[in-house]
This record gives sequence, C-alpha cells and structure tokens, in this order.
Amino acid sequence: MRALKINGQDYKVDAPDDMPLLWVLRDLVGLRGTKFGCGIAQCGACTVHLDGEPVRSCVLPVGRVGDRAITTIEGVGQTEHGRKIQKAWLDLEVVQCGYCQSGQIMSAAALLGRIPNPDDAAIDTAMAGNICRCATYVRIRAAIKAAAT
Ligand code: FES
Ligand code: FES
Repeated sequence: MRALKINGQDYKVDAPDDMPLLWVLRDLVGLRGTKFGCGIAQCGACTVHLDGEPVRSCVLPVGRVGDRAITTIEGVGQTEHGRKIQKAWLDLEVVQCGYCQSGQIMSAAALLGRIPNPDDAAIDTAMAGNICRCATYVRIRAAIKAAAT
C-alpha cells in the first residue's frame, strides 16, 4: 500500500507507480472535484498542489509524489490563499459552466502563495496553462486582484 497525505489527512491506496495522480484522487480516494480535461497537461483542469506548487495531476505518476503534501480543490479552502481566492470567486461570480474552475482556483491560490500582489503580467503567466472554454478570463483576473488586496 502507498501512503499519501491529501488535504491534511493520511490515506493508504493500492496504486501502481505509474498511475496518474488524477486517477488516484478521483477513482481510488473519491475526491472528484479535480477534473479530467485533456489528459496531456494542456488544459489545467486537473491542477492540484504538491507542497503548495501547482502540478498537472493527469500526467504526474503517483510514484513521483513521494512524501509531498497534496492539496486538492476540496482542501484548498483551508489554506490562507485558497480561502481568499474562493471568496473572491464567489463575490465576483467568476464561474460559468464550472468545469475548468477547480484548476483555475488551484493555480490562482498557488500564484498568491508565490506573489502576494501579482500584476497583470504575473497573472497572465501563472494562469496561461488553465484553459476556460467559457472565457471567464476577465473575471478570473479581477478575482485574483480582489483576493490579493
Ligand atoms: S486534464 Fe490535466 S492538463 Fe488537462
Ligand atoms: S467556466 Fe466553463 S470552461 Fe471555464
């Protein structure tokens, strides 16, 4: 069995080294807030944090997680930056269909962890890998700025 720390809780999962972390989270652990979009690290829907850094869980073999702490959309609201981002998302009604938004929030929370008051260029760079088919980009940028103040 493999030990994982997810959202502050200890889990034991029976997963081979090469199983993508996204599969582990959704199918073995039952945390389905993290979404499958492309499966090839091109859309950002599957973004989670490893020790606070955003990663694409669809292409990350669980064998490479090691003892790093995993945070998913179910747990990011327990963190300072995640809480601020989620509040701003609600206040500015960012979400449209919602499918991409777990990944957007995870990337935005990680950005605030690195840069407390990001400018447009920093936001665009950090969020460039998160695709939204509903084109909520303008509200996402506004919400990140609101969360930062
Ligand atoms: S599902 Fe992982 S980046 Fe698209
Ligand atoms: S809100 Fe629909 S894909 Fe982003």
